[in-house]
Amino acid sequence: MKLMFRPLLFHFLLLCATQTFGVNIQSVPEVNSEGVIQIELENNVSLVCHEAQVDEELVWLRNGAVVSLTEENKKGQSSVCVSPVIYEDDGAIFTCHLGKNATVTASVTLYVTYQPQPSGLEDVAVEEEAELVLWCDVWANPPFSAVSWTLNGSAVDLVASGFSLTNDGFTSKLTANYVEKSLHEGTYHCTAKSPARVDYSKEFSVTVTGKTMKFPLMPIIAGIVVVCLTTLFAILSRWNRITKCCK
Ligand SMILES: *[C@@H]1O[C@H](CO)[C@@H](O)[C@H](O)[C@H]1NC(C)=O
Ligand SMILES: *[C@@H]1O[C@H](CO)[C@@H](O)[C@H](O)[C@H]1NC(C)=O
Repeated sequence: MKLMFRPLLFHFLLLCATQTFGVNIQSVPEVNSEGVIQIELENNVSLVCHEAQVDEELVWLRNGAVVSLTEENKKGQSSVCVSPVIYEDDGAIFTCHLGKNATVTASVTLYVTYQPQPSGLEDVAVEEEAELVLWCDVWANPPFSAVSWTLNGSAVDLVASGFSLTNDGFTSKLTANYVEKSLHEGTYHCTAKSPARVDYSKEFSVTVTGKTMKFPLMPIIAGIVVVCLTTLFAILSRWNRITKCCK
């Protein structure tokens, strides 16, 4: 009976100890059960650290670096504000601990959500036989699970239309190296999907214009070279004659 009682008492004492010396963090918006605060980019987060012993000094850290606090914001209760939240705050860990005992501590982690700015219609004019590039901003957190492109309402046929498609997580890029009016003119949509939020979409209206005559640079260069060479040979043959008659 005695043997069973001891561990219980021990646990009870431990519980009292953590409550007496403990610190805890309250936040707006609220911390979830995993200690994570989900917050949309450019909004504000306010964190308040409380401790049981009212007269002890508190310390705040952001990713291990000390946050500077005013004197009146240290004892018993201490608040920090992230205003506004930026991309770099994603994954940032805020820790509060007792000034004299860093093992009495509590932490929260920020999870910053963002997605591309809504964008309207983009008009694109491209010359026949030129290169066509369409960009769609797809940088988001949580990331989009899929990005799709349509032309006049049906999925873009990459092979038949001579398109190449790349996505580096920031931009989805649709490129055609050799534009043909019959293949490439029309209305394009890029649509990014994520189970976490509504779809993101951007529209492009692509017009293919006739090919303008480019300045014929190569024939002109060839012409100049021929003229120069002819002059050079003329001078040379003349020089021969002049030097001959001087002898
Ligand atoms: C710091 O707090 C821990 C946990 O409450 C405790 O075990 C430890 O003895 C304390 N250390 C000091 C130096 O007070
Ligand atoms: C898309 O629709 C426009 C307008 O109806 C049409 O002029 C164009 O040829 C179509 N593009 C393709 C590739 O079918």
